[in-house]
Amino acid sequence: MSRLTVNGQPVQFSMDPATPLLWALRDAANLTGTKYGCGVGDCGACMVLVDGQALRSCLITLAEAEGRFVTTIEGLSRDRSHPVQQAMVAEQAIQCGFCTPGIVMSAAALLQRNAAPEEAEIKAAIPNLCRCGVYPRLVRAVQQAGRIMRGEGAGPVPALPPVAEN
Ligand code: FES
Ligand code: FES
Repeated sequence: MSRLTVNGQPVQFSMDPATPLLWALRDAANLTGTKYGCGVGDCGACMVLVDGQALRSCLITLAEAEGRFVTTIEGLSRDRSHPVQQAMVAEQAIQCGFCTPGIVMSAAALLQRNAAPEEAEIKAAIPNLCRCGVYPRLVRAVQQAGRIMRGEGAGPVPALPPVAEN
């Protein structure tokens, strides 16, 4: 039994402790916003926050996540109103969207520790791969999200409707 906190809720997983956190989240907790891309730590599609740090959930076992606080894209906001989510939409930094949850989690972690990152810092802190090539828009989106977090600029764009329950 592995006990951790997921999106603010205590969760127990009755799975092999060697199971990657990614599969516990997707298959047992039905948190399918966290994506499986490569499974070997290259793409970042599976990025979640663990104790506030962006980590690839395909590389962390349940045993390693024991007792830690995990946040997935579903836990970042209920209505997609997190500044990064608002800015990604406003800057149209989403094409097919497969990489988007992982990118949002990397960006959220970056802005939590530095709300005014330079372009080089953004590129270094968001190693996620995007096969659609949203990178230039992504940089603008992260900078826009930083302005929202700092209370600067034109202000946040309206939140999208709540995500429907499964
Ligand atoms: Fe985890 Fe690609 S699925 S890094
Ligand atoms: Fe398609 Fe990034 S938007 S992979």
